[in-house]
Amino acid sequence: MPGTLPDGVPVPPDGRLEPGALDELDATPFGIYVHVPFCATRCGYCDFNTYTAAELGGGGSRDRYAGLAIAEIRLARRVLGAAAPAVSTVFFGGGTPTLLPPCDLAAIVGAIGSEFGLAPDAEVTTEANPESVDQRSLALLREAGFTRISLGMQSAMPGVLKVLDRTHTPGRPVQCVGWARSAGFGHVSLDLIYGTPGESADDWERSVRSAIGAGPDHVSAYALIVEDGTRLAARVRRGELAPPDDDMMADRYLAADDLLAAAGFGWYEISNWASGPDSACRHNLLYWTGGNWWGVGPGAHSHVGGSRWWNVRHPAAYAARITAGLSPGQAKEVLTAAERSTERIMLKTRLASGCPVSALGPAGRRAAKRAVADGLAEPGPLGAGRVVLTRPGRLLADAVIRGLTD
Ligand SMILES: C[S@@+](CC[C@H](N)C(=O)[O-])C[C@H]1O[C@@H](n2cnc3c(N)ncnc32)[C@H](O)[C@@H]1O
Ligand code: SF4
Repeated sequence: MPGTLPDGVPVPPDGRLEPGALDELDATPFGIYVHVPFCATRCGYCDFNTYTAAELGGGGSRDRYAGLAIAEIRLARRVLGAAAPAVSTVFFGGGTPTLLPPCDLAAIVGAIGSEFGLAPDAEVTTEANPESVDQRSLALLREAGFTRISLGMQSAMPGVLKVLDRTHTPGRPVQCVGWARSAGFGHVSLDLIYGTPGESADDWERSVRSAIGAGPDHVSAYALIVEDGTRLAARVRRGELAPPDDDMMADRYLAADDLLAAAGFGWYEISNWASGPDSACRHNLLYWTGGNWWGVGPGAHSHVGGSRWWNVRHPAAYAARITAGLSPGQAKEVLTAAERSTERIMLKTRLASGCPVSALGPAGRRAAKRAVADGLAEPGPLGAGRVVLTRPGRLLADAVIRGLTD
């Protein structure tokens, strides 16, 4: 959830989209994202749209959340009408979706199924903080139709977890992977963070090895971002903690890529590795390949046919809108064809499948040639018609993408 948003224009009270937005709904996979904005405690590095019980005060309680989300799913059905295909991916993110009882998450999945229909091979993921699930809740989630779980591990080293304000023990995420596997989850992912102040190269290597050893089929490794307004940023500003250094971050990324590749995991997006093509996160691929999705919940973003909107951020404001029978959309923007094409280039270039050269303008094609000459890109296994980042290119992805979008 980005902290700053474009101004946008108002969303109509009934959430209706402009004519034409529904035309391409059938042509691409359709997903639903459910944002659950609650956490037991706030990690010092995190600026996601999430609230502890103390931060919420009286407004927008957890108990009412499932009912409100289901009301928004019904609104989505009314807005999209007969044009909406069966849902191919569902992703519960947060926050900590698993702070809600499994029966609430099951009710929301049930409502998506009854309103839209779930495709027979639908991927249904929830993120989970390792503290918020146990053997029993994971079994209930599997029974409710979840097919994939993504656990926030971050590190295996106690000192690093402490700097990140993580409350779980180093062994807990590993134990959760075992519980998820015995509950029947075919897809289990672990999130790791590198570059935490004080984390040594050896700490990072041990974390990656521990993640691999737990037996997931997917790993995400994120560079720590020091977000403005977080406790981490205040500690860095006061000089208590050193800011992450670019060269060190590049070394950590390459170390992760080496260890994961040696264990049979291939990168399919710059920060994501999977043990095979069936283990890639299809919901995230839908975002990265220009698909359509409806985002349910406070602060959730949606995209349907070039129309993009975002919901009011605070759970109390969200509850007030839904209860009054109004769209929770705060504002929206309609992307021009040129904006959509730039976005496509930005997202596809981050994928191992690369960006088609045919998507680039004349300046972008010249930049692609330069990137190939500089060893930052290559034609890729799918042939000369695509630009695929090399390993050095992945480290300099932002600069390469700037050139391609010219
Ligand atoms: C919504 S959380 C995952 C589920 C759960 N809330 C948890 O933290 O265990 C999504 C992921 O974003 C990553 N993340 C959050 N803030 C970050 C930051 N400032 N820098 C890098 N990664 C971050 C973490 O790896 C985290 O697991
Ligand atoms: S538990 Fe996850 S969403 Fe919640 S504050 Fe920590 S990183 Fe952010």
